[in-house]
Parts: sequence; structure tokens; C-alpha cells
Amino acid sequence: MQPAGRPIIVLDFGAQYSKLIARRVRESGVFSLILPYNTPLENLRALNPAGIIFSGGPSSVHAPGAPLPDPEVFGLGVPVLGICYGVQLFAHMLGGKVERSDRREYGIAHLEHSDSDGLLYQIDSRTQVWMSHGDAISSMPPGFVTIGKTENCPHAAIANPSLNLYGVQFHPEVVHTPQGSKILSNFVHRICGCASDWTMGSFIERSIADIRATVAEKRVLCGLSGGVDSSVAAMLIHKAIGDRLACVFVNNGLLRKGEHELVQKVFRGHFHLDLHYVDAEDRFLTVLSGVRDPEDKRKKIGALFIEVFEEEAKRLGHVDFLAQGTLYPDVIESVSATGGPSCTIKSHHNVGGLPDIMNLALIEPLRELFKDEVRAVGKELGLPDEIVWRHPFPGPGLGVRCIGAVTKERLDTLREADAIFIEEIKRAGLYGDIWQALVCLLPVRSVGVQGDERTYEEVCALRAVTSQDAMTADWFRFPPDVLQRVSNRICNEVKHINRVLYDVTSKPPGTIEWE
Ligand code: XMP
Repeated sequence: MQPAGRPIIVLDFGAQYSKLIARRVRESGVFSLILPYNTPLENLRALNPAGIIFSGGPSSVHAPGAPLPDPEVFGLGVPVLGICYGVQLFAHMLGGKVERSDRREYGIAHLEHSDSDGLLYQIDSRTQVWMSHGDAISSMPPGFVTIGKTENCPHAAIANPSLNLYGVQFHPEVVHTPQGSKILSNFVHRICGCASDWTMGSFIERSIADIRATVAEKRVLCGLSGGVDSSVAAMLIHKAIGDRLACVFVNNGLLRKGEHELVQKVFRGHFHLDLHYVDAEDRFLTVLSGVRDPEDKRKKIGALFIEVFEEEAKRLGHVDFLAQGTLYPDVIESVSATGGPSCTIKSHHNVGGLPDIMNLALIEPLRELFKDEVRAVGKELGLPDEIVWRHPFPGPGLGVRCIGAVTKERLDTLREADAIFIEEIKRAGLYGDIWQALVCLLPVRSVGVQGDERTYEEVCALRAVTSQDAMTADWFRFPPDVLQRVSNRICNEVKHINRVLYDVTSKPPGTIEWE
């Protein structure tokens, strides 16, 4: 796609915060990309960056095999900002000295400075910053001056204005550095001279032009799941090529209450997409009959989804492209210096296996965006809040929340309980505070009493978590009266459930879904 002005490149030295740096830069209206620290110089030059940021990283510059950038990067003639490990690289590579500090500095510190015009323009002369480092600069590289210090760090902010090199030992990208976004904004706007031209409106315009150029007169197929990513991808493509986009929505019988009705109402009814609804509930239930093992369920659901999707695609006649809602974090994961998780915890079900099988070219209009940007695009394209702000929902759906046997009756029970839980969360105004909320139906029964009668019915567990990216999660602290209302309503309104539990396991050690 045509870039939105010259980008800021974040070189990733293995920091857990690289993505956050890129997001902060984008929040200040400037497009940014994350690339591995050892990206060849010609690739960097080809991107014509307005500036480069060296991220932090867990290494010491003295460690054998410490990640180093191409030394010529300093000769590119664009401003560079080093953060934490990144600023230590300046000292290490440009004639200064880095040593292990007497005191490892971790947590809140206070930066003092009198820089009125450069990186620290309009930053309070004493401001809170967040530190996390063992090494520190002990001797400044020639040409650099100190522009800020903290109690334990004499060179907490440094600059070489004639070479346009700037560095901070603290982390401006985290919330514990309250004026950090302003510091990053000073770098990209005042030092690199970037305009604020990265807006979702400009993204939509460029994306539509790009999709039109790529697709020309051909046809695109999109698997619409009702989730945010596939919904926004479909809307963008539809805006670009109209009816040459065909969407397929598979009802696998494992969806939430009212889901297929909502998707059809929004996309076909309101936005007039060419939506092909496939009711495959019976086929999925047949395949899942007697299956209890979680991995077995996931594999069977994934395989049948591909089969059903392919059949429907054949009915549509020739298509050339398959649309996918791939996001930027998925793209970075595959190139990051830190690598991704090394073992499969769960076989994820998505349409990732489709293009190979179907021999289609991929079109991924969201591959430059972070999740919050996708939501902003969805909002701008007019998608209702119910779609834009919805919690993630796994491809295998209620199949992996119906612990043990998956039957129509148990799924209907689960659907009712889930709908009550979500409704009460929304009513309490808590939906936006929660990353994901779900109900699992457990493979146990318990004794209860309703009216004067003994009952022997199913048990469900509520799960609600907070999270940034689903890699780690914590259980949500509900006000007790919300849990009480949910429990009362489920036991009273859902036939076959007489006991409600609340899951207080974080991730790790638990995963978000139970299977
Ligand atoms: P876990 O259970 O591994 O889930 O902590 C992390 C996040 O991923 C979602 N999830 C899936 N999403 N296909 C998806 O597209 C899947 O097969 C799948 N399984 C889990 C889960 O809901 C949570 O948001």
C-alpha cells in the first residue's frame, strides 16, 4: 500500500515494549513499522524513514552475541532515538562506555531537565519516568550532551543535536511515564519533522485505492465470522469493489444466541453485502457426536469448516482472492527478534488453512493495523458498536465451552446462560472493562433444590478476564451483586442448570478458554 508519508521505523532489539512504541507513535498521527534489529541497511533505506527508534531489549551490550544494528544506520542521515538498551548502543558503538550500574534501577524515577527546545520540549522540569535497566552509560560518547538526569542515572536523557541522535534510559512508551507520549511526539514531529497524517480516514482512502488496484475486475471471497477483524476487512473490501466481494458465513451450530441473525441483519440487511449463509449445524453436530477430547474437537471443527467453506465457494463460481483479517501483531510476530511461542498449546481454528487448499491469492487489508486501529476503522465505516466492541470469540465457538459431550441440548443450555451473563455485564456497564467473558458448561451434575423439589442438573462456570493481548490474563473482580444477579437469573431461567461457579484462575496457569 502507498505509505502515509515517511514512516518511523522501530528497530526491535527484543523488547517486550516494541509494539507499544509503535502504537504510541501512531497515536501521535505518524505511521510506524516494527522491523528486526538486523534489518539490512538497503531495506531500511528503501522505506525512506523519517526517523528510527531503537527499542529496548533484555540483553547487555557486553553479552556475547548482543544484538547490534548495522553501524551504517547512523549514516542514513535520519534522526535516531535510542530507548533503554537502544541508548546504551549509542555509547557502545560511538565511543562512550556502558557499565553495570551499582544499583539495578527498576520502577518509578524522576527525571530532571532544562531542555526547552528539543526532545524534552514542554516536558515538566521534574517529571515521573519508568526505568528498567541493569547497565547504564558511564562515559558519554563524543559529541553527546546530557539533557536529563534522575537520582540514580546521571545520563537519563542524552542528545547529539548535530547528528540528530537522541536517547533516553527510561521507557517513554509505558503509562508509568505520564509525559512519555509527548516525548515520543516531540521526536517524531519536532525532530523528524513528520506531519500527523496517519488517521483512520486516510487509511481507509488509501486502502480502498489499493484494493481496487490489486483486485481490478476480479472477485474476492471472504469468510465472515461476525468477529471484529473479518467484519472490518469485509466492509473495507465491499466499499472498494461492491458486489465483486462474496462473503460466506457458516453457522456451525456452535454460535452464541442470536449471532447468525445479527450478522445477517447487519451485513445483508443494512450494508447489502453479498452474504451467503450456510446452515451446517447438523453436519457439525454429527461430526462432534461422541467427541470429548479438546484437541480432537478443535481439529474436527476446523476440518469440517474448511470442507463446508470450500463447497460453498465452489457454488459461487470462480473467485481469485481470499480475504483475511490478519492484523499487524500477527505479521510482526513472524519477524520479531524475540520469536513467538514455541509449543502449540491449542490448535487454533481460523481460515488460515484455506488459501493453500483453495489455491487463492490472499488479500489482507488490515495487516498494517493494531486492534484498536481496526476498531477505529470499523467505527468510521459505520459498523455498529455491537460488532466493533465485541469480545473475541474462538473459531471452534461453544464447542470448546461445552466441556465433555457436545449435543444440541447442551449447546442450547449454554447459549442461554451465556446470553444472560453478557446481558448482565452490559447492564452493569462493565463490558468494556473486560477483555472476554464466557460461560462453560461442565461435565458434572449436582444436587439442588428448587421450590420444594430436589434437582440433579448441570453446572456452569463463568469466566471473565482482563488482558492486553490474550497472552496473559487476570480474572475480573466483579462487584458481588453482579455475580449474584447472573447466578440467580441462570438458575431461574435456564432449564437444566442449577449451580453457577466463578473461575478465579489467571493465565498462566489457566488459559482463557477451558479447552
Ligand atoms: P486461550 O484459551 O489460549 O485463548 O487463552 C487466547 C485467545 O484466543 C482465543 N481463541 C481462539 N481464537 N481461534 C481463534 O480465532 C481459535 O481456535 C481460538 N481458540 C482460542 C480465545 O478466545 C482467547 O481470546
